[in-house]
Amino acid sequence: MTVDVEVVAAEPHDADAIRTLPGLGDSTRRLLDLDLVRDDRCCLVACTGDGELVGFAMGLVQLDEAHVLDLAVATSHRRHGVGTVLLQALLEQVRTRGAGAVTLEVRRSNDAALALYRRVGFAVEGERPRYYPDGEDALLMWRRDPGARD
Ligand SMILES: CC(C)(COP(=O)(O)OP(=O)(O)OC[C@H]1O[C@@H](n2cnc3c(N)ncnc32)[C@H](O)[C@@H]1OP(=O)(O)O)[C@@H](O)C(=O)NCCC(=O)NCCS
Repeated sequence: MTVDVEVVAAEPHDADAIRTLPGLGDSTRRLLDLDLVRDDRCCLVACTGDGELVGFAMGLVQLDEAHVLDLAVATSHRRHGVGTVLLQALLEQVRTRGAGAVTLEVRRSNDAALALYRRVGFAVEGERPRYYPDGEDALLMWRRDPGARD
């Protein structure tokens, strides 16, 4: 089942609602106010028809490459396609800004995110041992042509 959400650019006033999303990265939580106004960031939120913010995605564009920095969906709205819609919107945005390849890191144990990323065309190309503060490895994924599957 796909839930009906609208994906729009995140605004500084969305920061508190974004911080309530479980699974948001620690550095995102810390630096969010700054990230929401940085020109090199693409920050998107997903909102339901009654205005509830249920998801957030953030990317960084550097020349012709982009980096997915975070993606989180409210627990109550997971498994309804929100993460997919947000990620596809982010890929579209970064492509519009000139990024022909997109990368990200994901915890080796994060089966949900790995499945989602694979479904939208990312492939594992490497790993970063002990990348996270708790010592877990990151898998390094790339999607080489964000336009090819849209
Ligand atoms: C990862 C996350 C963003 C997925 O969001 P979502 O809205 O539930 O994802 P979708 O509903 O679009 O799922 C798309 C597909 O991804 C896969 N998937 C999503 N969640 C899954 C899970 N818990 N287990 C296995 N596969 C899963 C499935 O293939 C799913 O398609 P299906 O429901 O038709 O089987 C969400 O679980 C989340 O916020 N997790 C915490 C934060 C996080 O880990 N972010 C990633 C940081 S790298």
